[in-house]
Amino acid sequence: MSGKEQAGTLTKIPTHVAIIMDGNGRWAAKRGLPRLAGHRAGTENLRRIIRASVEFGVKYLTIYAFSTENWGRPQEEIEGLLNILEDVIDRELNELHQQGVQLRHIGHLDRLPLSLQEKVKDAVALTRNNDRLVLNVAFNYGGRDEIVCAIKEMIRAGVSADEVTPELVSRYLFTAGLPDPDLIIRTSGELRVSNFLIWQGAYAEWYFTPIFWPDFDRDEYYKALVEYGRRDRRYGRISTGDSACE
Ligand code: FPP
Repeated sequence: MSGKEQAGTLTKIPTHVAIIMDGNGRWAAKRGLPRLAGHRAGTENLRRIIRASVEFGVKYLTIYAFSTENWGRPQEEIEGLLNILEDVIDRELNELHQQGVQLRHIGHLDRLPLSLQEKVKDAVALTRNNDRLVLNVAFNYGGRDEIVCAIKEMIRAGVSADEVTPELVSRYLFTAGLPDPDLIIRTSGELRVSNFLIWQGAYAEWYFTPIFWPDFDRDEYYKALVEYGRRDRRYGRISTGDSACE
């Protein structure tokens, strides 16, 4: 079956897929390579997965590229990941723009070098009207930090206790305006949430695979979408239309 026909057999396409791209370091170690070689291979794979997302009809793709906790890694690795972000913008932006990809960022830019902060902002501005795929890059992102920031912003805005609802909180998060993720994929066999979209992922379906991120190719992605199609999403109800809590 050709790739296109295969994509046509998917029964249910998640609108928003989020990915914890884990296992770059172990992928590299297995080959006797430095960790950064794993991150570079992971970046190559990201290109494939962006293309496949467009092909499968996924509308939002959020990737966990650098967490608020990743500042604890060796300086060389941190600088390598900052360089990768810069390289991706320098080398891939035009193509992403031509493909109709809208680039967004969640997290804090303030710890990044000023020139990189500007590049990210310019890339977001350039692509803001694209609507084929929203590529949401979580860089210097942490879910708890995001919620703390939202609470601070609500207090600064004078929101009263009675006005606080889940919908209002969502509007104060970095992801304001984006739908919640339907499917969250974590590669490399780790079974943890790791501070990723902890508010937005409340009812996401999770898919875990032992495959390291650089090897999580289009076919593996396809398998994840097939598995998603089999899931019965009940949102705490027992069947569609029932409102009982589980
Ligand atoms: C986790 O694997 C991966 C990361 C912390 C970085 C992910 C980054 C990329 C795939 C590059 C793309 C980045 C951008 C900015 C577009 P790990 O290093 O924790 O792997 P390990 O658990 O095997 O050590």
